[in-house]
Formats: sequence, structure tokens, C-alpha cells
Amino acid sequence: MLKWFTNNLKKIQVIILSATIIMGCRFYFGTTHDNFTTHLVNTSLENGKDLTYSVCGSCHYDHTVNKFIGRQLDELPRIGGKLFAANLTQSAGNGIVPRYSDAELFYLIKTGIAKNGKFMPYMMRPMMADKDINDIILYLRSNDVAVTAADTTIGESHINLLGKAGIRLFLKPVSYKKGITRPDENDTIRYGYYLAAVTGCYHCHSKNKTGVNYSIPELTKGYLQGGMTMKEAPGKNIHAANLTPDKETGIGEYSRSEFSKAVIDGITPGGGQLKAPMPKFKYMNDKEVNAIYAYLFSLQPVHHKVKLIVQ
Ligand code: HEC
Ligand code: HEC
Repeated sequence: MLKWFTNNLKKIQVIILSATIIMGCRFYFGTTHDNFTTHLVNTSLENGKDLTYSVCGSCHYDHTVNKFIGRQLDELPRIGGKLFAANLTQSAGNGIVPRYSDAELFYLIKTGIAKNGKFMPYMMRPMMADKDINDIILYLRSNDVAVTAADTTIGESHINLLGKAGIRLFLKPVSYKKGITRPDENDTIRYGYYLAAVTGCYHCHSKNKTGVNYSIPELTKGYLQGGMTMKEAPGKNIHAANLTPDKETGIGEYSRSEFSKAVIDGITPGGGQLKAPMPKFKYMNDKEVNAIYAYLFSLQPVHHKVKLIVQ
């Protein structure tokens, strides 16, 4: 017995070390006991639709069928595993939404913790106003054609140990906070800050994925200064642009209408097409785009040259 032990000491050490790392990188958490239910007072299905497209759409919307059937997130590095954003339609077999209560959806969006306790950090929006989440849930349960049943499957996410360790090393679930209100739409700069946060512009337009601060956006590394590496197509890297108002390396030369064309239609001032994964924010209205523009132009210009496409 002792001999076996000494002969296998290295193996035993590796097993103990791995077990400690895995336990340290807990990936499942307690879920909610809240009894939140959506309410219809002072709500807007249009706001819900607009936000579902702008906030959830970049991952869950499929432009070939115009529905929220999910897709593989192939712009992310493969090294940590594969991620498939779920089918958010009302399909009884393959849709996720019918299996979730209002409280569970609300909790997932606030904390990134799914119904089964799995931590999905890419989803968390701790800053999002309760009213906006309420409207998103109402929209997901509505009879709009983009969310009615589509029985397609997209595949199962598989996050390997490296991916899990990476996520847990850099990202922690945030505490559940209710009672967050939406800034006044006429307080343009604050409203723009809020929208740039919840729609996740800074999740891409900053330094790297691991430096993203979900609770206090401006503490993100290289906040809105661009540079993050993503995949434009298999094997082709792209870096997100600098969105500070620097005239030479940022968006300082963009007029309000050029900015709107870029954000809504994906067209640059020179007439070119912005490449994936830059989403087209089709359902953002003028007021929202103008607020984001005003907010970005209120930032300190940062001279940071980003080489956009890298082969
Ligand atoms: C950055 C990409 C991204 C965004 C933005 C995003 N999701 Fe997801 N979502 C994912 C991925 C990836 C998964 C699958 C996670 C997994 O399998 O580990 C997922 C899974 C889900 C699930 C299923 C959870 C489960 O129990 O399996 C729901 C529900 C969901 N998302 C709702 C939303 C809603 C609502 C929004 C908008 C408020 C949203 N997501 C925004 C990427 C995203
Ligand atoms: C999923 C990642 C992602 C998200 C989310 C995202 N972007 Fe982008 N964005 C990119 C990438 C990548 C590019 C570079 C595209 C190219 O050069 O073709 C880009 C380019 C741009 C450009 C053009 C900049 C230039 O130098 O001409 C603007 C403007 C822009 N994004 C604004 C926004 C705004 C505003 C938001 C939030 C409402 C946003 N983006 C959200 C990835 C993203």
C-alpha cells in the first residue's frame, strides 16, 4: 500500500491539485427564491422588443430566419470550449423561455445565474433597470413572430476546464439587486451611458473580455478604447474600434447621422460595411442612438490606434 502510494505520488498530487482548482472554480450557484412576476402597469412591449433585439439579439438572434433561435458564438476563442446561445423562442421542445418562470428569467439577466444554477457571465446585466427586464420578459412571452415557436436546435455549449477556470478567475457572479430604475431619457448623457452599458458596446469595444466589469462599466480595462480581439470569420481576427471621440484614432470625426448609420445599418461614413461581430442595432430608435452618441462624445478622447483587421 505504502509502496503504491510512493510510486504514484506524482499522480496523486496532480489529482489533489486539479480537484482543488475545480472546487475553487465553482461553476454552479444557488438559484432564486424570489417570487418576481411580470406586471403590466406602465410597461411597453415596444421597449421590450427594442431591448431584446439590442441586448440579447447579438447572441440569440439568427438573421437568416429572423428569429431568436440562438447561434454558435464563433467570434470567441475556441480554446475554452464551444458556446451556443440558446433558442429563446416559445418552442415547447427546444425553446428555453417556456421552461423558465418570470423570477428565474429576471434573476438570470441580473446575475448571470441560470435556473439550474450554472454561471453564464456573458448574460449578466446587473445594472439593468427592473422595468426594462420586465419589458424584455413580456416581449419574450408575446406573440411577435421573432419569438413564437421555432423547433430548431443549435447545439450544446461545452465549456472545458480551461474555459471554466478562465471565467471563474476573472468573473464573479454579482449579488442580486432589485429596485434599479432607468435614467430619465431626457438626461441624455446618463441615458446614453446606461444604454452603452446594457447593450454591451463596451463588452467588445474595450481591451479584452477578461477585463470587463459588469457592475461598474467604466472600471473595465481600456473602457471603450477598443482593441479587443475577436473572430470576424473562421481564422480571421478583427479588433473592435476605439469609440472615444479622438479625431485620429476614434470616432471624433463621426457626425450624429453617420454614427446612426454605422450603429443601425452597419455602414461606415465611407460607405463600407462594418464586419461581424459588430451587430446591426436595427431596433434602436433615434433617441437611443443620439443618447449613446452624446455619451461617447462626453468621454475624454483617447489616442489609441486599433488595427482593425488582422489576417
Ligand atoms: C454575449 C452573448 C449573449 C447575450 C448578449 C445574451 N445571451 Fe443568453 N445565452 C448566451 C449563451 C452562450 C447561452 C448558453 C450558455 C450555456 O449553455 O452555458 C445563453 C443562454 C441563455 C438562456 C438559457 C439558460 C439555460 O438555462 O440554459 C436564456 C434564458 C438566455 N440566454 C436569455 C437571454 C436574454 C433574455 C438575453 C438578453 C437580456 C440574453 N440571453 C443575452 C449568450 C448570450
Ligand atoms: C459583439 C461585439 C460588438 C458589440 C456588442 C458592439 N460592437 Fe461596435 N464594433 C465591433 C467590431 C468588431 C467593430 C469593427 C468592425 C469593422 O471594422 O468592420 C465595430 C465597429 C464599430 C463602429 C465603427 C467604428 C469606426 O472606427 O469606424 C462603431 C461606430 C461601433 N462599432 C459602435 C458600437 C456601439 C455604439 C455599440 C453598442 C450599441 C457597439 N458598437 C457594440 C464589435 C462590437
